[in-house]
Amino acid sequence: MTITIQFPDTLKWGAATASYQIEGAAHKDGRTPSIWDTFAHAPGNVKNGDHGDEACDSYHRYKEDVQHLKDLGVDLYRFSISWSRVIPQGTGDLNPNGVAYYRNLIDELLENGIEPMITLYHWDLPQVLQEDGGWENRSTTDAFHDYAVAMFNEFGDRVKKWITINEPWCASFLSNYLGIHAPGKTDLQAGVDVAHHLLLAHGKAVQSFRELVPDGEIGYAPNVDWLQPYTPTEADKKACERSMMWKKEWFMDPVFKGSYPDELVQLFEEHQAFLKVEEGDLDVISQPIDFMGINYYSGSLGRYQENDGLFQVEEVPLDERRTDIGWPIYADGFYRVLTNIHETYGEVPIYITENGACYNHEVENGTVNDQERIDYLKQHLTSLQRAIQAGVPIKGYIVWSLLDNFEWAEGYEKRFGIIHVNFRTFERTRKDSFYWYKQTVTNNWFER
Ligand code: NOJ
Repeated sequence: MTITIQFPDTLKWGAATASYQIEGAAHKDGRTPSIWDTFAHAPGNVKNGDHGDEACDSYHRYKEDVQHLKDLGVDLYRFSISWSRVIPQGTGDLNPNGVAYYRNLIDELLENGIEPMITLYHWDLPQVLQEDGGWENRSTTDAFHDYAVAMFNEFGDRVKKWITINEPWCASFLSNYLGIHAPGKTDLQAGVDVAHHLLLAHGKAVQSFRELVPDGEIGYAPNVDWLQPYTPTEADKKACERSMMWKKEWFMDPVFKGSYPDELVQLFEEHQAFLKVEEGDLDVISQPIDFMGINYYSGSLGRYQENDGLFQVEEVPLDERRTDIGWPIYADGFYRVLTNIHETYGEVPIYITENGACYNHEVENGTVNDQERIDYLKQHLTSLQRAIQAGVPIKGYIVWSLLDNFEWAEGYEKRFGIIHVNFRTFERTRKDSFYWYKQTVTNNWFER
């Protein structure tokens, strides 16, 4: 039996990328290194020694990429700005060449009927700021604010959708406590400090956005996953809730409730990491925002384990199905996390700012048959449609990613694109998922 999954007419469809993952031209036209250039060039941090010097070469090929977007038929293109391309010293003077690149990209998008959605911070902090402590240093929140203001001034007349910070959990804990992303530290205190400063930087940018782009919309994009209790026991339930708090409540309560979850503050204290909040910080952080971005990829069952990490939880995949990056597939978790966020934080509009799958298919006879990616998207879009029907105010869905690209610590081996990229020639080849997504976007429904 086929089932039709129908979406509301008002739903916006999009595709996403990020600067360091696609642009290349790392040393061109006045761009200075970011923490990701430094990290990727230090041996042992990224698989196969890959780095973003050339990436997808989108810096030179943006017109071609926009044509793909146009043919795809999406409403939105979510991309990020490389801070060190537009402000090479981190603070101060703008680099006219860097600004021109984004101006040209925005013009090209608008001329082709695609609405730009800009992410201001997708992890590529200017290295010069890292020399002064980076996000551990509170003054980086002011540097970010000034950078944001400069971008609002440059592009706010034509770009109306903005995201301050992408995946603050990754930019703080994954990068500074778990050591997996730049700058590669393993210090819980650093993670806690960076997380707070990212939220503060977000709030400061939102404050100025209201004056500078009064008719625009601004939000941020936390990443979430879902842990479903392995058994209905209190112990499993509690372990799942506490573990999810690290990505969800830690980054959402301050924004929507003006407070941090006590339970985690205490847990971090038990591990000698202390939350340092100055007077007024939470007022700044809890500025009303226009939407929340949600990035969702994976989830599992969660079982209480006394000796398992900070959160005493063991993740048990639901079944054997995983994407090629090893992440368990859990489409129902997408529905569960969206309804949970809606129950907890109320009517804030939500854009799915990222969802997608890693499958490493190659080109064969000029085509890429990535049926697994299509299946993943069908399952997750079914969960999305269920969430919409349950009353979650979903405004848009943005697939990750338009292109195969530099997958951070995993390098180029791990492919998330609906367009294949040959990283020697930079040739782009549309995958089967591109055509499937195009049809879905055009129809506003699909059959499964
Ligand atoms: C999260 C990040 O925002 C993006 O940069 C990354 O490539 C995808 N998820 C896949 O890991």
